[in-house]
Amino acid sequence: MENTKLPDEKKKFVKEKFSSISGQYDLLNSLLSLQIDRYWRWRTVRLLREFPEGWVMDLCAGTLPLSLELTRQAPQRQVLAIDFCEDMLQAGAKALPNDGRRGRIFPVCGDGEIIPAPTNSFWGCTVAFGVRNLSQTLQGLKEMHRILRPSGKLLILEFSRPTNPIIKPIYTFYLNRILPAVAGLISGDKEAYQYLASSIAAFYEPEELLAMMREAGFSSVSRVPLTFGIVSLYIGIKK
Ligand SMILES: C[S@@+](CC[C@H](N)C(=O)[O-])C[C@H]1O[C@@H](n2cnc3c(N)ncnc32)[C@H](O)[C@@H]1O
Repeated sequence: MENTKLPDEKKKFVKEKFSSISGQYDLLNSLLSLQIDRYWRWRTVRLLREFPEGWVMDLCAGTLPLSLELTRQAPQRQVLAIDFCEDMLQAGAKALPNDGRRGRIFPVCGDGEIIPAPTNSFWGCTVAFGVRNLSQTLQGLKEMHRILRPSGKLLILEFSRPTNPIIKPIYTFYLNRILPAVAGLISGDKEAYQYLASSIAAFYEPEELLAMMREAGFSSVSRVPLTFGIVSLYIGIKK
């Protein structure tokens, strides 16, 4: 359904949906993923071990869960956290723990398709569950490429569709029926979670996303499926 929206319409819709669930986003994330999302974020951030210092961009940062993991795993790292939904950033900023990480995470409201940051300036760029929401995926990927330093790394964590014949029907039922009902009840916005299911169904095949990453300029692109392929980790290097 959302795929038929024009880029500006999709942006407005996505921004409104995330704004409406911003207060419950973290709770629902943990609940609905049975906290497996923590493991996915941990796996993502571990792939930036070679850059323990300096700046990383967390794009579509939302309530900052990945920014927190990025700064937890590397005490010398600083994170520019960009999202176009101010309510999501504010919910995250309010909940930041009172430890050293607070001073190393810099939330900024901005669009991932016209990133408000200089060229060649970040060692890493992470995007967790954000690429699927972009209106113009290739444009966003080109921007991620632009802001990375040469040899910098892009890490995209995104939902994919499991192909295992036992897991697939269970997951599809969960995603289309259970999740919107439960999340709708808690957040008060069932449409936001119907959008989650339909956007996962409409998203690119892994091979298509890898091809777009190459087209955006990334080298050595690869994919690591996690948890039966419910999510995938996409990796690209800026040469
Ligand atoms: C599912 S949330 C993910 C938040 C966080 N990264 C996480 O790991 O939970 C997706 C976020 O992408 C943001 N987003 C979607 N399109 C965007 C765009 N074009 N520019 C900036 N942020 C965008 C939304 O506002 C939302 O906060």
